Amino acid sequence: MRDLSAYKNAFCTLETPFYFYDTELLSRTIEEVLRASGKYGIDVHYAVKANVEERLLRMISSAGLGADAVSGNEVSRAVECGFPKNKVVFAGVGKTDREIRAALGIEAFNVESLQELEVIDSIAAAAGITADVSLRINPGVDAHTHKFITTGLEANKFGLVPEEFQPAADAFKRLRNVRFTGLHFHVGSQITDIQEVFSQECARANEIAGFFESQGLEIEHIDLGGGLGVDYLTPDRNPVPDFELWFRTIAQNMPRRPGMRLLAEPGRSIVAQCGSLVTKVLYVKERKAKTFVVVDAGMNNLVRPALYGAYHRIDHLAGSAPARKYDIVGPVCESSDVWGTDRELPACTRGDLLAIRSAGAYGSVMSSTYNLRDKAPAFFSEDFLDI
Ligand code: LLP
Repeated sequence: MRDLSAYKNAFCTLETPFYFYDTELLSRTIEEVLRASGKYGIDVHYAVKANVEERLLRMISSAGLGADAVSGNEVSRAVECGFPKNKVVFAGVGKTDREIRAALGIEAFNVESLQELEVIDSIAAAAGITADVSLRINPGVDAHTHKFITTGLEANKFGLVPEEFQPAADAFKRLRNVRFTGLHFHVGSQITDIQEVFSQECARANEIAGFFESQGLEIEHIDLGGGLGVDYLTPDRNPVPDFELWFRTIAQNMPRRPGMRLLAEPGRSIVAQCGSLVTKVLYVKERKAKTFVVVDAGMNNLVRPALYGAYHRIDHLAGSAPARKYDIVGPVCESSDVWGTDRELPACTRGDLLAIRSAGAYGSVMSSTYNLRDKAPAFFSEDFLDI
């Protein structure tokens, strides 16, 4: 893993803005996921929604991870990029009939409502097969994260709530073309209170598993979703998130039945830190109260700051000591197109390159062509080995 400033001369020849992925860091991250998950016996499914870049997906699939998809297109993308279909799980509150039909044969549908269970049963019956399904449970656990990325509270649209457990268990006794395989939970994303949140999730999962077992349903796997947070403030200090702590917390808090598998479905923690959005300074606007640095990357390329008020570190690729405070802004005609306020950076001049860090997850996938602006292309560190 090289410092980004090492690529400065190569970057100068490219049109900005662009995403840059450090594939060496991704390899290190995957190795750590494999090590820690192997140690604690946890099966990992990469949440494809975080980044769908083919080269990254191929690196992840070839390491043997499964995939977690939330749309029919994500299921096909995962399969095209090397994930075996029977290692793909499919969640989402609004699966269409067409998506369900095309996905038959996957490892499990994570079913989010009683009605969806009936629909999957009838589509599987028409195809003459049995679909493996797992019930997505809304565990009522607070992930202590941003309100837009919390998923496990009753106020959220996801999963089944307690009054639906008995009807769901009864449905499996009646329906012929769905097979119950387990339970799926998800509490939220960018979780930093690992021990507190996951120990609570495991306790709820254990309780709820007990209910379904009492109904004669065997639990083959429990998927403990909820995403390990990454260090957006100081990415160079923690380039590889603490998978050891996360998987150990799950393993220590989730009592396992014999033969039962535990699954986790990280997206952000695998790909966030390997990606940066590289942008060029267009203009420096000096005002009495503050100085704006206008760059050529906009909220259409990475919407997290505008949408969630998310913090992304910004590095000046000339790399000298901080000299000034700037508001770094994008070119889009929206006041929320701001990358950071009062950021200390070396003096910025037209043509300088800046890197918006930790942009590998929920960056490119959430980009748009708003203002008819171009999407940012992707480049990979392994293609710059000769610099
Ligand atoms: N599985 C399910 C069912 C999910 O809903 C999510 C994320 C994940 C796995 C992956 O979670 P992760 O490991 O990435 O935390 N766009 C937002 C994040 C939305 C996450 C939604 N679900 C952001 O930019 O922060």
